[in-house]
Amino acid sequence: MQFPSIEIPVQKIFTQNSVALFLKREDLIHPDISGNKYWKLFYNINHYLAENPAAPLIITFGGAFSNHISAVAALGKSEGIPTLGIIRGDELKDNWQENSTLKKAFENGMVFRFVTRESYRNKAALTNTLQTEFPNALIIPEGGTNAYAVWGIQHMLSEGTKEFDYLCTAVGTGGTAAGLSKFAKENQSVLGFKIVKDNSLEDSILNLSRRKNFKLIEADFGGYGKINAEIVGFINEFYNAYKIPLDPVYTGKMMFKLINMIKSGYFAEGTKILAMHTGGLQGIAGANDFLKSKNRELINF
Ligand SMILES: Cc1ncc(COP(=O)(O)O)c(C=O)c1O
Repeated sequence: MQFPSIEIPVQKIFTQNSVALFLKREDLIHPDISGNKYWKLFYNINHYLAENPAAPLIITFGGAFSNHISAVAALGKSEGIPTLGIIRGDELKDNWQENSTLKKAFENGMVFRFVTRESYRNKAALTNTLQTEFPNALIIPEGGTNAYAVWGIQHMLSEGTKEFDYLCTAVGTGGTAAGLSKFAKENQSVLGFKIVKDNSLEDSILNLSRRKNFKLIEADFGGYGKINAEIVGFINEFYNAYKIPLDPVYTGKMMFKLINMIKSGYFAEGTKILAMHTGGLQGIAGANDFLKSKNRELINF
């Protein structure tokens, strides 16, 4: 993978209660390997390819709407490497073509193995079996989070991000928050907006970053992937106001919570906040399929 040829823009959203909010548009880094996925994969892939495996193969894990699965499939296509996706839920075996994320990943060359939720939960056993079956393969954990991923996240920070007091990201598996925490300046704090209910996240992030400069905030809206009318309304209003698309699983929930915190006076006057737009926009098609089936307001840009 190459360093991106574009300068990633930082866009001002507003100043409210004397607090300035900006959004770094990492979603623009690549059309299909967007946001934090690009950086989480960067050193994983480059290190693997530098070892010159005879028959390269990338294996990874994810749910039916996973942004990570989508990014790995696109990466496999662009680098000419076969990809195997271990997908949670064997019930999808017969109808995955109806799922927009999996359909696109398949078009990008990914081969799937659908596993029961029970065996999916036991990743260590699954990984061992896969490594025996495919000894040359690069097996990337769910969400792409590992030490290489954390190292890659440093590139979301630059000279231009030094002036901010807070760096914010949505948190799934914690790699992005860990990278921001590890590479933040001394005077910067990281806020991670938890999208999943997972009490082990605090420790996993600390293990990866080795710094206690971050705080986790609940932003799960009743559970991972839960999309209600309030979040859809917020995403549509945000787009109308700022012409920036947000996804309903990660960035929409982070911005909803963060803006409410600003409005309710959580931050001191004069604070400058930088939120990371970590992409995930591929998930909107799947969310809209669901919303359409329930006859509810769609996300529309
Ligand atoms: C759009 C988006 N934002 C945020 C995250 C959370 O990143 P992490 O798993 O590193 O916590 C993800 C998952 O990779 C994601 O797809």
